Amino acid sequence: MAMKINRIGVLTSGGDAPGMNAAIRSIVRTGLHHQLETIGIRQGYAGLINDEMVSLSSRSVSGIINRGGTILETARCDEFLTEEGQRRAKEVIEYHRIDALVIIGGDGTYRGAIQLWEKWGIPCVCVPATIDNDLNGTDITIGADTAINTALEATDRIRDTATSMERVFVVEVMGRESGYIAMQVALAGGAEEVLVPEREFDLESMCHDICAGASKGKRSWIIVVAEGAARAVDIADKITKITGLETRVAVLGHIQRGGSPTARDRILATRLGVEAVKLLLNGEFGKAVGIRDGWVISTDLHVAIKKKDQNRDIDYFYKLMRDVT
Ligand code: F6P
Repeated sequence: MAMKINRIGVLTSGGDAPGMNAAIRSIVRTGLHHQLETIGIRQGYAGLINDEMVSLSSRSVSGIINRGGTILETARCDEFLTEEGQRRAKEVIEYHRIDALVIIGGDGTYRGAIQLWEKWGIPCVCVPATIDNDLNGTDITIGADTAINTALEATDRIRDTATSMERVFVVEVMGRESGYIAMQVALAGGAEEVLVPEREFDLESMCHDICAGASKGKRSWIIVVAEGAARAVDIADKITKITGLETRVAVLGHIQRGGSPTARDRILATRLGVEAVKLLLNGEFGKAVGIRDGWVISTDLHVAIKKKDQNRDIDYFYKLMRDVT
């Protein structure tokens, strides 16, 4: 029989992602539906160590479904990586009589949850939220859709000036280890080239293509670069050196992490929040919720932290890019 859960804790950890608030709202309201009390933990794992708790009612999560960031705040917490930090977190959880946790974040966050569950016996379920969409165990993470649309809107604006002034623009988007945002933005924004961390790239050959286009009358280009592939400013310098064309750079940075979540992210976060609470109530701990082929699923956290195999998707995207440029 599943253990009796009366009070749950919820926290957001790692890089914030649009839709985290919608997930918090969904968790709190689903909890209430099942007579659970929810305690919010501020600033991720740091809040567990520093005892930063806030009681969450139905009213405290009203009017947040449309808000970017996270009302609970978030942090990357080195102290939680230590034995001492985790022991302290366990003490705080027990002091507040929290029976189980819903933990919202990316792969670093999942690793923390594995520690809490397996080493310290704290029941945990994770919800995938990162703009990078690089988590195994889900087709899409909360925040990715909003970030892509934000970066796309900026790229569309850049195209207006690139066309008007006949320039090559190199647009740098987020993604230290993941080219997901870059590929989506490149395809949707009609970019000529995309550089991602998962693939080697040949700058000489790219410049050759640019020159070939120029000789046929092409006058402006958008090159999308994921931050983990290269720095936009270096790519722009090399393009100018090799082709002689005028280049400009736009680094979109943290703009991509903010803003009101899209309908897709709000709905995803709502669905996953409901499922996370259900898993806890069923005693299915050490798992992450996710979406597969449109259906809500759950995956063991050890599987969820494995590197996502994106090879097939990346090959497909490159083929699409070639077909349409
Ligand atoms: O968490 C995702 C992410 O936005 C990455 O795309 C980016 O490389 C990183 O976080 C930036 O982290 P920080 O805000 O800590 O500089």
